[in-house]
Amino acid sequence: MKFFWLFTATVLRASLTVARPSSPVSHFFTWKPPGPNDVVRGPCPMLNTLANHGFLPHSGQNITEEDTVSALYTALNVNQSLGVFLFHHAITTNPAPNATNFSLYDLRRHNILEHDASLSRGDYYFGNDYSFNQTIFKETRSYWTAPIIDVEMAAKARLARVHTSNATNPTFTLTKTGRKFSFGETAAYMIALGDRATGTVRRAWVEYLFENERLPLELGWSRRKKTITQHDLVDMLRKVVNATGSSSEDASLMIRGGGFHAGL
Ligand code: HEM
Ligand SMILES: *[C@@H]1O[C@H](CO)[C@@H](O)[C@H](O)[C@H]1NC(C)=O
Ligand SMILES: *[C@@H]1O[C@H](CO)[C@@H](O)[C@H](O)[C@H]1NC(C)=O
Ligand SMILES: *[C@@H]1O[C@H](CO)[C@@H](O)[C@H](O)[C@H]1NC(C)=O
Ligand SMILES: *[C@@H]1O[C@H](CO)[C@@H](O)[C@H](O)[C@H]1NC(C)=O
Ligand SMILES: *[C@@H]1O[C@H](CO)[C@@H](O)[C@H](O)[C@H]1NC(C)=O
Ligand SMILES: *[C@@H]1O[C@H](CO)[C@@H](O)[C@H](O)[C@H]1NC(C)=O
Ligand SMILES: *[C@@H]1O[C@H](CO)[C@@H](O)[C@H](O)[C@H]1NC(C)=O
Repeated sequence: MKFFWLFTATVLRASLTVARPSSPVSHFFTWKPPGPNDVVRGPCPMLNTLANHGFLPHSGQNITEEDTVSALYTALNVNQSLGVFLFHHAITTNPAPNATNFSLYDLRRHNILEHDASLSRGDYYFGNDYSFNQTIFKETRSYWTAPIIDVEMAAKARLARVHTSNATNPTFTLTKTGRKFSFGETAAYMIALGDRATGTVRRAWVEYLFENERLPLELGWSRRKKTITQHDLVDMLRKVVNATGSSSEDASLMIRGGGFHAGL
């Protein structure tokens, strides 16, 4: 009897503090780093984070469309159509024919989605294109010169990484998809963590996500109240391209080729 009440009280308390209307089974507070039976994580700090929380399979493997759409929606309020779109890109990295799922490991395959000049990972040429690298991230962070990152700073940080890679990596490449993803990833952290209307985000939240592969809940972040749509992503991506400057080859290629328009 005593145990029954103890159990009930615990469950009640847990459901009161944890449950949110949109996430009946919440993984916000169940973060656990990858263990020995989990695949080594991949090059996407956000998908690694979602696996660490258990929104995606903690193993990082056999991630299905349903897993992806539901994790992105429950954790980040990403619109389901955008979730499906991203999943279709993700399975292109699984070498199995007619793949219906992917692993975080698959994502590191070079020049499918993974590209040079990442914000926090080294280039494939240097041997590790998937693990967080503080030296690389230090360069990125040096352009985030105030506690609130704006589009200008975000664009400068991305472009600096492109210039550094171009200057140091003899095999430096950014394919059309690579360029789209590169701009899209900068847009993604602004939107998922920040304020898409003003194009700003708290630097501490972004650094926390990259460095811990954990949602910055303890710093005050919470799931964005407004659903993140494909339109939001394209809109922010355009702002980053625009802030990168028309003289940049990156920007002109993106705009000339209709690049992100066609792809997103
Ligand atoms: C199914 C959905 C997603 C897939 C398949 C995916 C895939 C990837 C891949 C392959 C990379 C590596 C690119 C590189 O070489 O740097 C990457 C990087 C990144 N992703 Fe994701 N991603 C997804 C969702 C998200 C979401 C929702 C966010 C929101 C914040 C996000 C944020 C980022 C960021 C900021 C990077 C850049 C990391 C860096 O440059 O060091 N991703 N993603
Ligand atoms: C993932 O795909 C593999 C084949 O690539 C298949 O054998 C496996 O059943 C799939 N897993 C899930 C959970 O769909
Ligand atoms: C999960 O993925 C791994 C590696 O891709 C595979 O060996 C295993 O059979 C999969 N398990 C399930 C349940 O789909
Ligand atoms: C998600 O996007 C699709 C198409 O872009 C739209 O039909 C749907 O209403 C959106 N859902 C939400 C919740 O915004
Ligand atoms: C993959 O799909 C194609 C077209 O549906 C089919 O012809 C082929 O046999 C499939 N391959 C495997 C390994 O399932
Ligand atoms: C991180 O990047 C730096 C600079 O490219 C490189 O010298 C270093 O070896 C990398 N560290 C790891 C662990 O890959
Ligand atoms: C890389 O550097 C070369 C030589 O300086 C330059 O022509 C090219 O435009 C650069 N590429 C990018 C994407 O910045
Ligand atoms: C594009 O960039 C210019 C110059 O950097 C800036 O004045 C303008 O407001 C930007 N436009 C948009 C839509 O972001």
